[in-house]
Amino acid sequence: MTQAAQIIREAAGDEPVRLGLVLGSGLGALAEEVEDAAVFAFSELPGFPASGVSGHAGALSVGRLRGVRAALLSGRAHYYERGDPAAMRTPIETLRALGAEAVLLTNSAGSTRADMPPGSLMIIRDHINFSGLNPLIGEEGDARFVNMVDAYDPELRARLHEAGAGLFEGVYAWFSGPSFETPAEIEAIRVLGADAVGMSTVPETILARRFGLRVAAVSVITNFAAGMTGQALSHDETKTEAARAQTRFRALVRHFVESFA
Ligand code: HPA
Repeated sequence: MTQAAQIIREAAGDEPVRLGLVLGSGLGALAEEVEDAAVFAFSELPGFPASGVSGHAGALSVGRLRGVRAALLSGRAHYYERGDPAAMRTPIETLRALGAEAVLLTNSAGSTRADMPPGSLMIIRDHINFSGLNPLIGEEGDARFVNMVDAYDPELRARLHEAGAGLFEGVYAWFSGPSFETPAEIEAIRVLGADAVGMSTVPETILARRFGLRVAAVSVITNFAAGMTGQALSHDETKTEAARAQTRFRALVRHFVESFA
């Protein structure tokens, strides 16, 4: 049990949550739909990161979403903020301590595929840890040797497909950021098998598997990756395009959450 989980249980009650959600850049508005919410700023919870990226609120809401007891993290910490690949360790461990059996990780990402334009939603089937970093480096004991076959739970992926129409499925590659990728890096990672690129999620997936949580993950495609259109990339574009995809994204997440009822 983390100290944070104790604080949350004291305020929000002992009823276990079924599901944890991590809402990425520009996707945090879903937290408004939580009923009977107990809301905690990350700064109130020991071990939670201070997130300083615009588009990331840094709050945890515990309550009912579509009738399912859930804990939503609006905002996350990224490796590039402080150079700590384990920045999300306490939040992920806390979701488990609150009773979650699964976590839905969401992010904004760039597409390496010409047939997957901005506005697309991509279910993550697998990842490539292109950063070479790992949140479990330094941990002792055998629990650190986490199996990563089917890290993105096949049964949860099937449920995501049922929850939304016209969804892509593909491989997400983690780049450390915060600079965007070069066109050469995108060309390289496409050859290596990546369909989408981004600066988050992979360390959380590793941590979630470490703590025994099943993982489902969705990327909101906000742009074609570097070099694909001749246009420059920007965080403003990420936020604007994520906001435009909100309606479909929210509908997908709602239906997925309902499958836990
Ligand atoms: N690269 C990395 N991270 C991103 C991108 C991208 O093109 N789009 C949104 N997040």
